Amino acid sequence: MAKKINCLISAGPTREWIDPVRFISNPSSGKMGYALAKEAHNRGFDVNLVSGPVSIRPVDGIMVTRVETAEEMRKAMLEKFDSSDLILMCAAVSDHKPKFQWEQKKKKDQFPQNIEMIPNKDILLELGQKKKKLQTLVGFAAETENGVQNALEKLNKKNLDWIALNDISNKKIGFDKDFNEITLFSSSGKRVNLDFSKKEELATQMFELILK
Ligand code: CTP
Repeated sequence: MAKKINCLISAGPTREWIDPVRFISNPSSGKMGYALAKEAHNRGFDVNLVSGPVSIRPVDGIMVTRVETAEEMRKAMLEKFDSSDLILMCAAVSDHKPKFQWEQKKKKDQFPQNIEMIPNKDILLELGQKKKKLQTLVGFAAETENGVQNALEKLNKKNLDWIALNDISNKKIGFDKDFNEITLFSSSGKRVNLDFSKKEELATQMFELILK
């Protein structure tokens, strides 16, 4: 019997806490990542989904690891990376976190005027550095300007096999929408536009292309 494909997918936003009642995050709903996980499951793959806080219910049969911070997501992805064949990093990871997290709620009259931020590690960059020959690594690029150039730079810098460019300045698609429009670039020089469609439909098209 052929070996089952192990597929690792990240989805949703991360949260970087300031104090117990406040965090820094982004509007990612997790819909694209969950659609990819469902498609992988329908294809009979073993699916590990590392999910930031979202309100979607995954389909039965998918292994879900729930995380909040970028660091928790990083640890979960690294733990499963070596045993995965196909890795899709769809999460909207917070690039920065507050330097200090207060254990107690900051009262409003004590809340700082400025919050010092420090960078989070780039998970996908780290995965790209660890990637082995038989693994396929796919990233996303969320861009508001110079999309093609930025996506190609990320494809290269993060040692990816594919990158999916999302134009997040288009209000009809992307963050928290049911629809998306994607341009996929491969490290071998392919460029494919996937037209405006439901995220589930795009997930199907993405797998068809990547597994070709
Ligand atoms: N990513 C990641 N870890 C981070 C930031 C991003 O793994 N700390 C991943 C995202 O999941 C995505 C890819 O890197 O697959 C590109 O993310 P994006 O937000 O488009 O770009 P950044 O690399 O964060 O760069 P910039 O914010 O300058 O556009």
